Amino acid sequence: MWDKLCIFIITTALVKSEYKYETKYFKVPLDHFGFQRKETFQIKYLVNDDFWDRGSGPIFFYTGNEGQIELFAQHTGFMWEAAEEFNAKLVFAEHRYYGTSMPFGNASLDNNNIGYLTSSQALADYADLVDFLQDHAVTPKYPVIAFGGSYGGMLAAYFRQKYPHLVAGAIAASAPIHMFPGMTPCDAYYRIVTSAFKIDGSQQCMSNIQNSWSTIRNFASNATNAEWLHKNWNLCDPLKNSSDVQQLLDFLQSAYQTLAMVNYPFPSDFLVPLPAYPVRVVCQYLNEKLYGNKLLEGIGKLLDTFTNYDKKSKCVDYKKGSDYGNLDASGWDYQSCTEMVMPMCTTGKHDMFEPQEWNFTKYSEDCYKRYNVYPLQDAARVTYGGDRLQAASNIVYSNGLKDPWAGGGVFNTVNESIETVLIIDGAHHLDLMPSNPADPSSVKIAREFHKTHIRRWIQKFRK
Ligand SMILES: *[C@@H]1O[C@H](CO)[C@@H](O)[C@H](O)[C@H]1NC(C)=O
Ligand SMILES: *[C@@H]1O[C@H](CO)[C@@H](O)[C@H](O)[C@H]1NC(C)=O
Ligand SMILES: *[C@@H]1O[C@H](CO)[C@@H](O)[C@H](O)[C@H]1NC(C)=O
Ligand SMILES: *[C@@H]1O[C@H](CO)[C@@H](O)[C@H](O)[C@H]1NC(C)=O
Repeated sequence: MWDKLCIFIITTALVKSEYKYETKYFKVPLDHFGFQRKETFQIKYLVNDDFWDRGSGPIFFYTGNEGQIELFAQHTGFMWEAAEEFNAKLVFAEHRYYGTSMPFGNASLDNNNIGYLTSSQALADYADLVDFLQDHAVTPKYPVIAFGGSYGGMLAAYFRQKYPHLVAGAIAASAPIHMFPGMTPCDAYYRIVTSAFKIDGSQQCMSNIQNSWSTIRNFASNATNAEWLHKNWNLCDPLKNSSDVQQLLDFLQSAYQTLAMVNYPFPSDFLVPLPAYPVRVVCQYLNEKLYGNKLLEGIGKLLDTFTNYDKKSKCVDYKKGSDYGNLDASGWDYQSCTEMVMPMCTTGKHDMFEPQEWNFTKYSEDCYKRYNVYPLQDAARVTYGGDRLQAASNIVYSNGLKDPWAGGGVFNTVNESIETVLIIDGAHHLDLMPSNPADPSSVKIAREFHKTHIRRWIQKFRK
């Protein structure tokens, strides 16, 4: 019994382990692509060199994405585990305009200051940082491997493409580099969200959600009922008008996306605190055909699990919309209104959502109203190559088949130096998470695949 208890304590400790690092700052120019703006500011980066072979050990470099970098350092266990094996130094760099890497302090996201938030500026920050980590050596000593998940995965791949002299290779996990206009059908993402609910939950769970939209809309249009929802769903704010109701529906839609993305086989607090297999857990309330109030009660329980699994939240803050959770990604809306235009739509036929078409004109107008800028549909493709990767090398793209972002992922091996790995049972960059006893074998294979390539790139660098 004691043995079992000890094993339990050890595994719990592993899952909960906190990685230790030093927090540092690095000075970068506000504008890498012109000489007129002379301001500089500091980006944050986190370092651990406990395992590092200081002679010639590799540098594992996480290209930070849209959020505070600590979150990614704490959840990218794969890098920590591999660092020990490869005697690598770990560096996690924060993306400008996120976390505390703010060029204009708390006024950075104002319309007149936000203009230097682009992926190219962020990559140029990372390039300067890598050059600094190499002591500005003309012939760098340490092989640098870039890692990233999601937008961070796109950046890892782009980093290798744009700066191959600085980066020996890149692991691009769940990187939707094909999620740009003309490359992927706009309904791909929500189809995968839907199939996650159908497969990990049930057909019935999926169709209950599909029917819930009109049920909620009709029900909430009556003030007495709207007040019932406010109380029974424990909403922080009452539903006073149709725009409140729309916000609540948008919140639900984004909850379903998040649940599909982080449908990991172990409990995780990556985006929000959730149990193992959260889709299965929330679907237990919706596994039989439900109508009217019963359906609303089921969705209410689902919402409670999503927002209050750790029993710390007082009420459902539905007005936070897609900003809900641990990731402070407020700058992302600007990025998607400029260079990161990812068309999304729903049909209501192949997915469980209300139909909503992709209308770039409307999208542009909304961006203009909010930020005084018009998005460039083709910017990302022209800058980074879209699906024309023939001239790139030393990148592994991984995708989990259960991950909605896989809809824009790379699945075809281009040649022996651009490879892809499929994780059949994987949600959003599961391969970057710390290894866990509940891991499916597909993710173990993917991690070995990554390590084989990292080894190869390091050898090539040393030759
Ligand atoms: C922004 O920062 C300034 C200077 O540190 C401070 O005085 C001000 O209260 C802050 N404003 C907000 C909205 O946090
Ligand atoms: C709203 O719903 C309540 C409770 O179901 C009902 O008594 C009332 O008549 C409805 N009000 C309107 C305006 O339909
Ligand atoms: C797209 O949006 C624009 C601007 O809001 C509108 O004028 C146009 O009719 C919309 N197109 C379609 C096909 O709905
Ligand atoms: C794959 O791409 C790399 C990088 O451009 C190139 O050196 C190599 O020749 C390509 N291999 C094949 C088989 O096309």
